[in-house]
Amino acid sequence: MTTTTTTARANFAATTTTRRCFSSFLSSRRPIEHHHRRRRRFQKTTIVVVSKSMSSESTEETAATTTPTTTTAADQRPLSSSSSDDDDDDYDCVVGRLLPNETAWTNPANGEEYRLQTQTHELTRDTTVIRSLDWDRDRFDIEFGLEKGTTYNSYVIKGKEKTVLIDTSHEKFEQLYMETLASVVEDAETIDYIVCSHTEPDHSGLIKRVLERAPDATVVGTKVCLAFLDNLVQKEFKKLVVKGGDVLELGEGRQLKFIPAPNLHWPDTMFSYDTESELAFTCDAFGAHYCTKNVFDEDLPKLMPHFSFYYECLMKPNARSVLTALRKCEADGVKLSTVCTGHGPILQRNSEELIGDYKKWSEKALEKAKASVAVFYTADYGFSDRLSQSVARGVVKTDCEVAMVDLSTCDAQQIVEDVGRASGIVLLAPPNANEDIQDNIGVLIGAVKPGKQKILVCESYGGDDEPVDPLMRKFAEIGLQESQSPLKCQSTPTEGTYQLYEEAGTDLGQLLTQKEKLKEMKLSMSADVARALGRVSGGLYIVTALQGTAKSAMVASWVAQASFEPLGFTIAVAKDRAIESLMQVGDSFVLNCLSEDGFEAPMKHFLKRFPPGADRFEGVDWKPASCGSPILADAVSYLECKVVSRMDANDHWVIYSEAIDGGVFNKDAKTASHFRKVATYY
Ligand code: FEO
Repeated sequence: MTTTTTTARANFAATTTTRRCFSSFLSSRRPIEHHHRRRRRFQKTTIVVVSKSMSSESTEETAATTTPTTTTAADQRPLSSSSSDDDDDDYDCVVGRLLPNETAWTNPANGEEYRLQTQTHELTRDTTVIRSLDWDRDRFDIEFGLEKGTTYNSYVIKGKEKTVLIDTSHEKFEQLYMETLASVVEDAETIDYIVCSHTEPDHSGLIKRVLERAPDATVVGTKVCLAFLDNLVQKEFKKLVVKGGDVLELGEGRQLKFIPAPNLHWPDTMFSYDTESELAFTCDAFGAHYCTKNVFDEDLPKLMPHFSFYYECLMKPNARSVLTALRKCEADGVKLSTVCTGHGPILQRNSEELIGDYKKWSEKALEKAKASVAVFYTADYGFSDRLSQSVARGVVKTDCEVAMVDLSTCDAQQIVEDVGRASGIVLLAPPNANEDIQDNIGVLIGAVKPGKQKILVCESYGGDDEPVDPLMRKFAEIGLQESQSPLKCQSTPTEGTYQLYEEAGTDLGQLLTQKEKLKEMKLSMSADVARALGRVSGGLYIVTALQGTAKSAMVASWVAQASFEPLGFTIAVAKDRAIESLMQVGDSFVLNCLSEDGFEAPMKHFLKRFPPGADRFEGVDWKPASCGSPILADAVSYLECKVVSRMDANDHWVIYSEAIDGGVFNKDAKTASHFRKVATYY
């Protein structure tokens, strides 16, 4: 294997350049990346840091012993025999070639620095993975806290006649990735195709840079994907639009087959399948935000919580699309035995079990669904895709299933079917001037069930949105009830905007499921048990949390100390609470304790039903704790806390947190207690 081990002595100016580029990215299609944890700070001038635990894997000697060199031309099956000690794991894990050129990226949101590193491994004689290890990344979108960073995986296939690059990396990896790619493909101009599985910047962020070195390469993607990519690359490049069943010939009968997988995780997504090596490239699907040096999925117990959490956040809102993609793979003869994911380890040892989990979880999500919501969006228009995903995430918190329907590609039959099944409809404003989409809106209007469905209309911030108020009036005139007034988005979406859309989705889902949930709850609990459990007393607290422009609060009663060392406690938070998104592992929040004779006013205020996106703190006297979350003037004491872990308790999350700081404002005040007679309400 050709190796190029470069010691990157990136100076701070280089870091600044990366930051500037990333900032400009943020203004167009912004991956929300903010965090509140303390990170190891790097020297600004020397970015060569090889930690003790990494040093043994970071040498050429190790690379030589861990990289397979004896495969035969006939052996195109994935290799997994190479191994190296991994002091994080009990397994004999493949670590490939972990390059020592570690560098750092400065988060523009707060000036903190994250370790970046790259790694390569030959999966077969002619297929290599380039893994970009983002060791410290701690957030992906507002609701997705990461405990173990993430990786961005890119793949090079050197066919007999054609060389293909599948996906790239995040823009922050520019220097490391381009060096590492050069070590795998010495002459970039030999790259014939760049397959873009999905345009979110963690995978497509460096396509523009690769095209500068390989200007004749053809970029391959779905129609929606290439439309997105035009905005990102902003110059002419060769394109090839592919659809299901299309193939690229790589030489001597070897083919790369394409399987569209819309909504996993954006509408543009597709899988690729190498018919010779039988490697399936699935981008976001089946991935995990889990950064270790292990190339494969040997250590299942450690991987599993990250794998399932990833599914919960990213894929569960699209459970129907997951099952559709699995069916398509089966019909197309795509083996999912070695699954080359876009994030985290490649699935190989446990692929059958993990793919089975996706199927099982998706089927369960659909079975459990108490209502169906059809979300209509326009894939290549403004922020329609991201905003629609936020609404969908909010909806699925309430045990509804969601059908995502792209108005730019769907047909009339699909609209009629999805509307027919739905009790709620969400419409992200389409572009005003597109005739095909307007025809589809006509079909949608003709298919709705007056008096039986609720609707939410939202702006897409695409520059030419069909005005939402007249659109809503059309639906009202034919007898659909709005779940709330149309959502407006009049500037580039921020954390607060995504929170607003998610909360509106949750409100819609709650409207659709409330009655059935109450009925089920009454039936599921014996009256005696409910009365007895009601005698378990609790306190009265206001939990507050803030991240960027998003902030939230809730009244809590189910709070209990859980440990002395560290000082820790648990709070039970209903899964459909808005604040739940701001209480991921690693997040900070404040627990405000109320007093016996002063709890009524704050409790009354925070128990109000706030409209989505409303400022819960308007008219409330508060000051920020060091994490930024509000300390209420009405509190008798407060604790500043950090979430350590979350336990799934069916309809609640039990959130265990460490108390980091705190204070008592009134040491003579008694804390409020909350007494109930029955456990079927708070
Ligand atoms: Fe990993 Fe949807 O990007």
